[in-house]
Amino acid sequence: MSILKVARMGHPVLRERARPLDEAEITTPRIQRLIDDMFETMHDSQGIGLAGPQVHESIRLFVAGVDDDDEAMSPVVIINPEVSQIGTAVEEDWEGCLSIPDIRGRVSRAVDIRIRALDRYGKPVAMTANGFPARVIQHETDHLDGVLFFDRMTSFESLSFLEEYSRFHTRHTE
Ligand code: NI
Repeated sequence: MSILKVARMGHPVLRERARPLDEAEITTPRIQRLIDDMFETMHDSQGIGLAGPQVHESIRLFVAGVDDDDEAMSPVVIINPEVSQIGTAVEEDWEGCLSIPDIRGRVSRAVDIRIRALDRYGKPVAMTANGFPARVIQHETDHLDGVLFFDRMTSFESLSFLEEYSRFHTRHTE
């Protein structure tokens, strides 16, 4: 496995609409290795999610997951996601992005969502998510449409550098 270079805000690949993958391509060694490398890259950068465009692959695939006391989310591989909101509840909370290093900002997201997608074997999966995992999935799905979390902010007042976020805006330090 290897650690991949992460595209940063300003790179055009982050603003493209990524293309879907079919089952035949998903099961190729190239895509399987890419998935493993994306997990390794995400863990190396202590990220919670990483989408194809962030590693210069304009394909509708992301990995996500974290093993943290506060914010556990099981590792998932999501391909060609279709996300829809359940109900109308929205919640504002902090987000960061490996493509926008050391910045945090508050973003409103749907609290409950339904996801239809393909897994890493190309098989259809359907699931629901609530709260933190739902936020991560919405953030990562946005990457596949060329959308960054800044675009979702209704005010830039909360924008903070990581150090100031840790000092003034969170209970735990990073
Ligand atoms: Ni991101």
